[in-house]
Amino acid sequence: MQGTVHIVDHPLIAHKMSILRDKNTSVKDFRELVSEIGMLITYEATRNLPLTTKLVETPICQAEVPTIKGKKFAVVPILRAGLGLVDGVLRMVPSARVGHIGMYRDEETLEPHVYFCKMPKDVAERDVMIVDPMLATGGSAAAAITEMKALGCTSIKLMVLLAAPEGIALIQKVHPDVEIYCGALDQGLNENGYIVPGLGDAGDRIFGTK
Ligand code: PRP
Ligand code: URA
Repeated sequence: MQGTVHIVDHPLIAHKMSILRDKNTSVKDFRELVSEIGMLITYEATRNLPLTTKLVETPICQAEVPTIKGKKFAVVPILRAGLGLVDGVLRMVPSARVGHIGMYRDEETLEPHVYFCKMPKDVAERDVMIVDPMLATGGSAAAAITEMKALGCTSIKLMVLLAAPEGIALIQKVHPDVEIYCGALDQGLNENGYIVPGLGDAGDRIFGTK
């Protein structure tokens, strides 16, 4: 089995992504665009949420109308750049709970490690969407998914703005049950592990740290 990859190729996403890629885009605009694209990808990633119906009284009559079934949802940003996507997801799914997972890389082995993890206590029962703007080697996302599975989560999706084929291949190999939603698929990685053409360091551009 190989996890499905959804490249959400909508003109609005493509247009906004092109502005993100421009190195002259300001921190303010970059942050707003990350949030907006996050919202648009969430629209697609929640396409299969189960519906039920409820009875309402319109000004005209009573009617059975669709409503999202009470499935619980959690958005889990990978710190720190993933924080930039939380607001966009919450605008689409305001009742979602938010868990945080922090990853750092060992400077010698380059292995990602979890340094912080604070989840809703019933996270194992929730549909989890891990969010991070960048899927490069895939090391950070793979480790975050492993951590969520260790907490008992069985329904996990991964949402990224930009992916490299290397990152997608790693997730498909290590976590074939996880569907990936991304705004664009780029050519590959450079010798420093950056996505090409990419958009640079997402965390630095969201938080203005460079
Ligand atoms: C970036 C990005 C991902 C990771 C992707 O975070 O937000 O978490 O790199 O790279 P990978 O697929 O090769 O693991 P970074 O480590 O730069 O930390 P930051 O969010 O604090 O900027
Ligand atoms: N992390 C980033 O922020 N950007 C990349 O291109 C790769 C990893």
